[in-house]
Amino acid sequence: MNKTRKFWSKGIASFLYRRYAGVRFFKMHSQICEEFVSGKNIRDILDIACGPADFLDLVSKSDPTLNLFGVDLSPKMVEAAKDKLKERAKITEGDIDSLVFEEDSFDLITIMMAFHHFSKKREAIETLAGLVRTNGRIVIADVIANSRPQEILWNCLEKITGVRGYVDHYREKDLVKFAHQAELSCTCKEVPGMAKRYKVCELSK
Ligand SMILES: C[S@@+](CC[C@H](N)C(=O)[O-])C[C@H]1O[C@@H](n2cnc3c(N)ncnc32)[C@H](O)[C@@H]1O
Repeated sequence: MNKTRKFWSKGIASFLYRRYAGVRFFKMHSQICEEFVSGKNIRDILDIACGPADFLDLVSKSDPTLNLFGVDLSPKMVEAAKDKLKERAKITEGDIDSLVFEEDSFDLITIMMAFHHFSKKREAIETLAGLVRTNGRIVIADVIANSRPQEILWNCLEKITGVRGYVDHYREKDLVKFAHQAELSCTCKEVPGMAKRYKVCELSK
């Protein structure tokens, strides 16, 4: 995890992400905000691997009454998120493998563009299943391989470049399998206006 933390804290990629990811992923963030936040009867939202909190910022503007929480591995991302949201959200440094929230605490849990960094994917979904309320939703939006050859190619490229820390690409069917193991349903769809590899997956009890 140290290399992943370092990649997202130091260097040009992390700097550029903190500055421009809001624009780059605006379509994905807005689709999730429209579909899972606006007009829904929800109160508590947790964004895991929140990065510079562009999604939470969007949510905050759409409904100033929601309770917002963000967690990220990278101190620099946490700093940027805190700067952006001030007292509006509770942002903490943390790892998906050791979250410290109580069971049944959230109506919506989101993980965007980060699930491919998680090494214990099945365990992560089990943890999320415990944290989300019965009628709540877990939304995993990510770059997801469309075929086994694509998955192998992407993982090879990550290994060769080796810069982004821990990365393990996967396919939609892997996510569906992990969700079912945690007794959750899982359906994925593309993000209009973005490349086909970007998917938004909804998991529920
Ligand atoms: C591509 S950024 C996505 C940021 C944000 N979710 C967004 O949509 O813009 C990936 C983020 O995942 C975080 N991350 C990677 N591994 C993590 C882990 N094990 N636990 C928590 N955060 C992690 C990184 O620090 C980084 O901020």
